[in-house]
Amino acid sequence: MQKIQRPKGTQDITPADVSQWQRVETAFKTLCTQMGYEEIRTPVFESTELFSRGVGEATDIVNKEMYTFEKGDRSLTLRPEGTAGVVRSYIEQGMSRSPKPVKLFYNGAMFRYERPQAGRQRQFHQMGMELFGLDTPESDVEMIVAAWQFFNDLGIESLALDINNIGTPECRQQFKASFQNVVKPFLNELCENCQTRFDTNPLRMLDCKVDSCQEIYAKAEVTAVIESDFTSEDCQAHFQKVSDMLTALEIPFNRNYRLVRGLDYYTKTVFEITSSQLGAQSAVCGGGRYNGLVELLGGEPTPATGWALGMERLVSLLGDAETQGPDYYIVTDQAVESFKLAKKLRVKGYSCEVDLSGKNFGKQFQQANKRGAKKMITLGADEVTSGEFQVKDMATGDQQSLKISDV
Ligand code: HAM
Repeated sequence: MQKIQRPKGTQDITPADVSQWQRVETAFKTLCTQMGYEEIRTPVFESTELFSRGVGEATDIVNKEMYTFEKGDRSLTLRPEGTAGVVRSYIEQGMSRSPKPVKLFYNGAMFRYERPQAGRQRQFHQMGMELFGLDTPESDVEMIVAAWQFFNDLGIESLALDINNIGTPECRQQFKASFQNVVKPFLNELCENCQTRFDTNPLRMLDCKVDSCQEIYAKAEVTAVIESDFTSEDCQAHFQKVSDMLTALEIPFNRNYRLVRGLDYYTKTVFEITSSQLGAQSAVCGGGRYNGLVELLGGEPTPATGWALGMERLVSLLGDAETQGPDYYIVTDQAVESFKLAKKLRVKGYSCEVDLSGKNFGKQFQQANKRGAKKMITLGADEVTSGEFQVKDMATGDQQSLKISDV
């Protein structure tokens, strides 16, 4: 029979890797809980319209990357990102009536039909935080600091933080005319995607991955427009406060005027954290403010901010996991008594494995070693009769005698 392989762009997370995943998930959950964020779990598939409206018709995600299918007369899509679903749920579950800010976090699989390469899958996992109800620079800073410290606490080095201010849709009208003016002479040289965005959303042209387009946007006259402060005084003051607070907190950042993010919903502050160890797909996390999205999806106007990290990219930065053997390994031909003893040890919080092979004790000793057990218990018929057994410390070789009744 021919073997069946996993679909292109997906990964098995095998037991050898899972401990790193669990370490990161636990650290993230602890951080979020300590910061007063509550977990939310939303469906893996949603109405297609949620993403076309929320993420934006003009984005690569909606145009090319969605896993969309029809069921009955409904068009459904596997979620390509977490924010739109969380916003839908915020509205649908009436969370706007809760005291503000509403602070949520999530963790789950996302799906994008992209060309797979190192660091880019079709099924990948994100963990993210979203905050609803505040339009303060402080709430942007809380997000950025949480992300930055999370990576640093995991011991990841070679990180860079880029931030930018992309203003409101009104600010972008200012930008539109001047940008169109300087880019117009090169319009025919731009890719099809940029030509479409030229009329609809010129700022997003900066997100184009085509080198020849980026060469045009690097020209001095185009750069001057990109780096002009086209946003309103309010947006500029907001961004200045964000920058000042990051400086005061000694978080190094780079103002990257070309950072516009790949989703349409952002306003004001956007940010991305990249690692030089990741190659072409260097963004380990990204986020920003999205003050218009709740209203766009049918809710009351509500400011919001958030970010998400890519688990696969993050875990690839952590190196190999240490394999954790059990605290106790029971070498035995007395299954029932061993199960009873193992249960007592587990109740006390120890991990304990019982050898189930039925092989001679010599082979079982070898197996205890291979499993990386910290301590080995021998429990044969003699030990059951005497009510006493030996515990061997695998590192030092020290032996200790214990009564079964004392455990
Ligand atoms: P995003 O930048 O599209 O933002 O994705 C966040 C992170 O997910 C990326 O930085 C990257 O690490 C990871 N990622 C994205 N696509 C892939 C892929 N194909 N394979 C592997 N990893 C990937 C968002 O999704 C926003 N919802 C973030 C956000 C939350 N903004 C506000 N709140």
